[in-house]
Amino acid sequence: MKFLTKVSFLLSIMVVKLAETNPKVVEELMRAWANEWIAFYYYLVMISVVRFKGYIVFAEKLDQVAKEELEHAEELEERLVQLGESPIKDWAAIEKIANCPKVYYPDTLEDIKGILQALEEAETCVINVYERLLILTHDKDKVTYHLISHIKSEEEEHRTIFEDLRKQLSL
Ligand SMILES: [Fe+2]
Ligand SMILES: [Fe+2]
Repeated sequence: MKFLTKVSFLLSIMVVKLAETNPKVVEELMRAWANEWIAFYYYLVMISVVRFKGYIVFAEKLDQVAKEELEHAEELEERLVQLGESPIKDWAAIEKIANCPKVYYPDTLEDIKGILQALEEAETCVINVYERLLILTHDKDKVTYHLISHIKSEEEEHRTIFEDLRKQLSL
């Protein structure tokens, strides 16, 4: 390897390293990780309610989506650990740092469309968070950028699932 090529190669590694430890990226990843745990919890508690009311397809989809939220939490946690962070052990702190701290279900659980609307809004909230993370990591941190692109595409699928179910109920 020519000297200059070697120097620019080493510099590029340093740039990637610096970007990976960008405190803003780490902070946003931590918030996104918290959002995933919150989504998992709020989705999980609704599965039995929806199934009991006879909305079997909705319950199955919600179960599938909840499992994917848990996967997202695990994937983000893995990245945070690679970046030198430790998971937060206190649930109250998770709620505090989340940018999407709850799913705003309607007061009455008879309102199935309202539940679906709340789920769509929850997905939109995390999609916005991931869009911001994509901007922060673009051309700076490839590993995080690819992970976030993958998660965001699944969040968009989730929103479509809930939107389609709501539209089917309106027919
Ligand atoms: Fe997710
Ligand atoms: Fe989602």
